[in-house]
Amino acid sequence: MNKLTCLFPLLFLIPLLASCAEKKQVYIVYFGEHKGDKALHEIEEHHHSYLHSVKESEEEARASLLYSYKHSINGFAAELTPDEASKLEKLAEVVSVFKSHPRKYEAHTTRSWEFVGLEEEETDDIDARPLKNDVDDRFRVGRKFLRKAKHGDGIIVGVLDSGVWPESRSFSDKGMGPIPKSWKGICQTGVAFNSSHCNRKIIGARYYVKGYEKYFGAFNVTANKDFLSPRDPDGHGSHTASTAVGRRVYGASALGGFAMGSASGGAPLSRLAVYKACWAKPNEEKVGGNVCLQEDMLAAIDDAIADGVHVISISIGTTDPLPFQQDGIAIGALHAIKRNIVVAASAGNSGPKPGTLSNPAPWIITVGASTLDRAFVGGLALGNGYTIKTESITAFKMDKFAPLVYAANVVVPGIALNDSSQCLPNSLRPELVAGKVVLCLRGAGSRIGKGIEVKRAGGAGMILGNAPANGNEIPSDSHFVATATVTPTVVEKILDYIKTDKNPMAFIKPGKTVYKYTAAPLMTGFSSRGPNVVDPNILKPDITAPGLNILAAWSGADSPSKVSIDQRVADFNIYTGTSMSCPHVSGAIALLKAIHPKWSSAAIRSALMTTAWMTNDEKKPIQDVDGLPANPFALGSGHFRPTKAADPGLVYDASYRAYLLYGCSVNFTDIDPTFKCPSKIPPGYNLNYPSIAIPNLNRTVTVKRTVTNVGIGNWTSTYVFNANPPSGVTVKAIPNVLVFNRIGQKQRFKIVIKPRTDLVLNATEKGQYQFGWFSWTDSDHVVRSPIAVSLA
Ligand SMILES: *[C@@H]1O[C@H](CO)[C@@H](O)[C@H](O)[C@H]1NC(C)=O
Ligand SMILES: *[C@@H]1O[C@H](CO)[C@@H](O)[C@H](O)[C@H]1NC(C)=O
Ligand SMILES: *[C@@H]1O[C@H](CO)[C@@H](O)[C@H](O)[C@H]1NC(C)=O
Ligand SMILES: *[C@@H]1O[C@H](CO)[C@@H](O)[C@H](O)[C@H]1NC(C)=O
Ligand SMILES: *[C@@H]1O[C@H](CO)[C@@H](O)[C@H](O)[C@H]1NC(C)=O
Ligand SMILES: *[C@@H]1O[C@H](CO)[C@@H](O)[C@H](O)[C@H]1NC(C)=O
Ligand SMILES: *[C@@H]1O[C@H](CO)[C@@H](O)[C@H](O)[C@H]1NC(C)=O
Repeated sequence: MNKLTCLFPLLFLIPLLASCAEKKQVYIVYFGEHKGDKALHEIEEHHHSYLHSVKESEEEARASLLYSYKHSINGFAAELTPDEASKLEKLAEVVSVFKSHPRKYEAHTTRSWEFVGLEEEETDDIDARPLKNDVDDRFRVGRKFLRKAKHGDGIIVGVLDSGVWPESRSFSDKGMGPIPKSWKGICQTGVAFNSSHCNRKIIGARYYVKGYEKYFGAFNVTANKDFLSPRDPDGHGSHTASTAVGRRVYGASALGGFAMGSASGGAPLSRLAVYKACWAKPNEEKVGGNVCLQEDMLAAIDDAIADGVHVISISIGTTDPLPFQQDGIAIGALHAIKRNIVVAASAGNSGPKPGTLSNPAPWIITVGASTLDRAFVGGLALGNGYTIKTESITAFKMDKFAPLVYAANVVVPGIALNDSSQCLPNSLRPELVAGKVVLCLRGAGSRIGKGIEVKRAGGAGMILGNAPANGNEIPSDSHFVATATVTPTVVEKILDYIKTDKNPMAFIKPGKTVYKYTAAPLMTGFSSRGPNVVDPNILKPDITAPGLNILAAWSGADSPSKVSIDQRVADFNIYTGTSMSCPHVSGAIALLKAIHPKWSSAAIRSALMTTAWMTNDEKKPIQDVDGLPANPFALGSGHFRPTKAADPGLVYDASYRAYLLYGCSVNFTDIDPTFKCPSKIPPGYNLNYPSIAIPNLNRTVTVKRTVTNVGIGNWTSTYVFNANPPSGVTVKAIPNVLVFNRIGQKQRFKIVIKPRTDLVLNATEKGQYQFGWFSWTDSDHVVRSPIAVSLA
């Protein structure tokens, strides 16, 4: 791209920006591990020398550098031309050079912990509070577990997100002990954030803005609607942090009193370290308008590792998965894993389409989202006598029946046919809507925005109809008019009624919080799905946790609906996404770390995965949005069950070097100067993972695994193999009995997966994934792993 192209087309603003941006852009130059032979200042000089080798002058080199990653990650972020980037890529020691893109993180809890059996006052005496008879055994186990984990005390959880709202009661340090001596982090001050905003709960806070400023210009607090500090303008960061490690807050509820109860993080006595790497998009309606730049996230992860966190929680992902050598989260996480820091990340909100999953690296715990057994039940009644229970957390009420209209019948001229049902901004005709209930469909535009449009046009209420892709999953939002959200089947009924009745009427009853309303968990439709498109030899996601309608702390600078005309302020808010399910798992990891401080990150993941639930609270398979049993590309190993994970029996362990060896199978190589890929590279599916995925199986495949006994005591335990093979293959283990007589003992085994010769596949069946599982069982444990294979 020459200068002319950049200056020339003023009339084509977008291409102009695009081509100029291409000319000079932020790239990340990644070297892998440090050799360990240089002091910190020497590392930066070393990075400079690389940069200088492609830049004209010393000054230019210095001016172009954003970050020099020095602690664990070896690399730098700098402004380069494509030409300079490709020159650097060819140099020795350079692992990869990749462009940073302003990738949007996907926006993407009272009830959630009770639901998995963890609900206890932090300082509660187990025996002092009698358990109700109707409370199942999970709670007794849960209390013991929490006590054993000291509610996460001693564990430090780093959260990469949009910052924190330090005044929230979820982050109070009342009664907490001194900051762990191992902590090396800082409390970085800035706008509306001084050193008093850190405490014994929020023990560290930092922010990373250089990459953001390169894309969006110098930070302007007013225009950016953000704080140049660790303070959270958005709510997302406070929500995720409080879900993982928030203190117990009694009487927490969203606006309107929904979900009233006590809100608590999974590990309420763990410490929080805040790494703000996500910022509000300037000059945009703030619905989902956050960006996290890879160079900022890498700097955050590099610091988190050096600061001494034990767990990193990342509710951030890309919409299209990147190869590992270009994925900042994957790179950062690998360095964290080397120091035995456990990294959990969200799977993304691009489901239910297959192959949409982000954060697919096997050294990350990838978390999908499922539902809770809590609902906000209201009602919808039609003039023909039809009534149905619906869900709503909207505080607005209707007092009588009102006329009912379908949005598509009351739009202003010029709205495209496919958008006419969507209640997009300024699409409705007030003279046809005033005082009426409007049926709006999902598909385009935000859910909250549709209610705002109905309100603008003077409507009395809104029926929000799911599109078929949304299935039966009902997200609860704080709408601006009385709202009932309904499934596609009900949409059909309502449309039919509107068509056939001369005077259709509707009434929306406000919601109330109800527990055990439907069988739970259910898989959510939005949760991103496998197969893993970066490497189909690794089954992803790993696990699911609650991600629908989660109540947690909120920012005092943002309204619960996140739209600018909303002036409401809420301490707590109900929010939905895999962003919400990820910190559930991070909280559980903190508890497991507290119980088993020596377990590796792979052992913790294995424990969570092999003990997960595949069935709901009615002992039936967890359902997907289509009503069928959810498969491992949605659920992973299942729904997390922290209490069981503390005693998994066996674990599938994997070291940092095992990941480096795995990297050889996917061209993610030369990361560590002390590690060279062997000449014969083992297939990726031989990574010692607690699940198995084999794409395009066309012959017998033998998969190698090793399990480590982490059971209790040194007596003999005998594990027996059991399998439910995917259709079209047989699954055998060699050997099929494993005997252990001490803790820490390892046993190797092979799984032989063989296509059935008696089957002739037709074209559709070829390439289609089939699912099954295998397990090792002794008298106390079932160590279960899902299998996915597609036959060639
Ligand atoms: C920090 O700011 C708060 C107001 O938000 C103020 O009350 C407090 O005194 C400040 N602390 C320091 C150390 O400046
Ligand atoms: C910051 O943004 C505000 C509002 O857009 C604008 O009035 C102001 O001039 C900006 N300040 C700077 C230093 O650019
Ligand atoms: C309607 O079509 C337009 C243009 O193709 C698209 O942007 C929009 O998302 C569609 N709306 C729906 C509801 O599918
Ligand atoms: C890995 O690199 C080799 C040689 O550069 C190439 O042939 C192969 O396609 C690459 N594989 C992947 C998965 O990128
Ligand atoms: C099976 O597929 C692999 C690649 O996926 C190929 O290399 C191999 O030749 C195939 N084997 C048979 C028996 O078709
Ligand atoms: C189990 O045996 C090993 C080796 O004999 C010993 O080091 C360890 O302390 C024993 N553990 C328990 C729980 O008895
Ligand atoms: C392939 O077989 C499946 C069942 O085994 C059947 O449902 C499907 O219709 C078949 N497809 C074709 C193209 O014959």
